[in-house]
Amino acid sequence: MKVHGSLRVPGDKSISHRSLILGAIANGESRIRGILQSADVHSTAGVLRALGVQIPDLTTDITVRGVGLRGLAQPAKPLDCGNSGTTTRLMAGVVAATPVEATFVGDASLSRRPMRRVARPLEAMGAKVELPEHGGLPMLIHGGALHSLTWTSETASAQVKSAILLAALVAGVQAEVNEPVTTRDHTERMLMARGVKLAVDGQRVHIDPSDRVEATDVVVPGDPSSAAFFAGLAAIADEGSIRLDNVCVNETRKGFFYQLRLAGADVREENRRIEGGEPVADLIIAPGPLRGTVVEGARVPSMVDELPLLACIATRAEGETLITGAGELRVKESDRITAVVDNLLAIGADAEELPDGMRIRGSDRPLEGRVHTHGDHRLAMAFGVLAAARGNSIAIDDRDCVAVSYPGFWSDLERVVA
Ligand code: S3P
Repeated sequence: MKVHGSLRVPGDKSISHRSLILGAIANGESRIRGILQSADVHSTAGVLRALGVQIPDLTTDITVRGVGLRGLAQPAKPLDCGNSGTTTRLMAGVVAATPVEATFVGDASLSRRPMRRVARPLEAMGAKVELPEHGGLPMLIHGGALHSLTWTSETASAQVKSAILLAALVAGVQAEVNEPVTTRDHTERMLMARGVKLAVDGQRVHIDPSDRVEATDVVVPGDPSSAAFFAGLAAIADEGSIRLDNVCVNETRKGFFYQLRLAGADVREENRRIEGGEPVADLIIAPGPLRGTVVEGARVPSMVDELPLLACIATRAEGETLITGAGELRVKESDRITAVVDNLLAIGADAEELPDGMRIRGSDRPLEGRVHTHGDHRLAMAFGVLAAARGNSIAIDDRDCVAVSYPGFWSDLERVVA
């Protein structure tokens, strides 16, 4: 397979969610350019509308008129978060500090995902949170006045960290979050850019009480988690290269690109610059003789969404790839350990499930068979990349689920495969 050409992947999903949420609770108008127009971001827009904010239809250039920290209204219906964990957990923080009563609901996958991790710190701040026995959705939150909190997270989760920071912000109290490993820091960067007093010291984040958020224009950079699929594709190609323009290269998101370079691919960064408070660059990726690598716990948060892809790429590398310390993969949009390993075995790859990760042995055998995505967008795209490699014949049961984060994925894939 030969790859060629350049792509501008859609806007970063994490930054898109946060742009809408912070725009909604700011004072004044925020112009957002390049927002990701995908199902997950539509979920955040819908939830904010249900809370009384006028969010326009999502196009490449929108303006959000903020209602201020205390301007959200009692919703008339449950808050439908669709498939989006980020919508649920970040908005749980906002709602917990607002004098409303709201029920968070979502699709079957989201309803199974663990919500106690946000419920516990929010309850410790004084909110009342009701969860079903299994700890997923529906989640009922009685919000109101909160008090300050110092919280040590057992799991490395940017969503939990962000929920606490947003709750403290809306409540006008201080909070300190300690995380076991640094996770993506977009919430911190975006709050500081909007005049909120926040201090970061290693894995500790401290937010001071605020009474307002300044409206700020945003240009959303390309999503490294989407760019990763094309970087992976170029790495397993026989020849050619792909250029990915305008990708967010924040250190807390770059793990996959480091890992790919470690495995032997040619990964280069050009035109590094700062845009909207985030480092951005153009990436050029070309194949290399790939070998197996090891991913340990400390690296996991910086590539957590890219691990299914890494596992697929590892089938084309020489030797063994070992992923450990990644138990979080079991509570993503699907159980990404079981689902990835089962699918790899189904297409004839050599893979083994571990309690907190997986082991993959590469070969140059053609891989053939049918893959079940379980409605998980990142599984569809990871196996879509593997399906494009020379000699493979892989069918994917549900290609449409890519709409969650990257609606144009299949046509972009076609464009770069010669
Ligand atoms: C996200 C954080 C990560 C990631 C998710 C987006 C965010 O989840 O997997 O896709 O925007 O904060 P966790 O916080 O559960 O690790």
